[in-house]
Amino acid sequence: MRMTAAVLSLLLSAGAQAEDVQALTAEGLALIPPFQQQLLETVKAAMQAGGPLKAVEACQLQAPLIAAEHSRAPWRVGRTSLQVRNPANAADAWEQDVLRQFAQRAAAGEPLAGMQHSAVVAGEVRVMQAIALGEPCLACHGKTLKPELAALLDQRYPQDQARGYELGALRGAFTLRRSLADAGVSQ
Ligand code: HEC
Repeated sequence: MRMTAAVLSLLLSAGAQAEDVQALTAEGLALIPPFQQQLLETVKAAMQAGGPLKAVEACQLQAPLIAAEHSRAPWRVGRTSLQVRNPANAADAWEQDVLRQFAQRAAAGEPLAGMQHSAVVAGEVRVMQAIALGEPCLACHGKTLKPELAALLDQRYPQDQARGYELGALRGAFTLRRSLADAGVSQ
């Protein structure tokens, strides 16, 4: 969804209106499925080619590249969690807040599928979408890891906190942001 100059000046002068934020949120959310798809395909292909050890390597090498590839300017996309594997994915204060809200919403019975939140924060539109732990994720984020896999993770991620999850648990979230000021040059 492209923004008109009129909408832009409104955003920049009068502050973002609810419907403008909604439009930008939709624009951001549309970037998630292809990002998620490519992450899944990459892990799956590496698993099939070389098992979970190879897949860990693939995740480590590819995940940041895939995030960069799907960061269509002016959007930046990534993944975060309250318990990260890679410290580079650590949640900032706003993201931590939203992740805690997601956990509360889940505890109150809301399904994780489609759980989202967006807001204007310090001149940026920020969007998050919850990530549930699925069956294929258990091998690397579940309660029982194969010893050689655990050893590799210990080596690659000495501060790993992303283990011990149960099927269906809130693993983290996709996180997206774009500057409102940049919106003018995106046309
Ligand atoms: C083969 C092992 C493996 C599998 C399977 C796997 N992951 Fe990961 N996951 C990793 C590694 C390694 C990282 C760290 C990537 C990096 O360095 O950026 C990671 C990072 C993440 C992150 C980013 C936050 C963080 O902790 O750094 C999320 C969110 C995540 N995984 C969710 C999932 C979900 C959901 C699934 C199932 C669809 C899954 N993972 C399957 C190994 C795996």
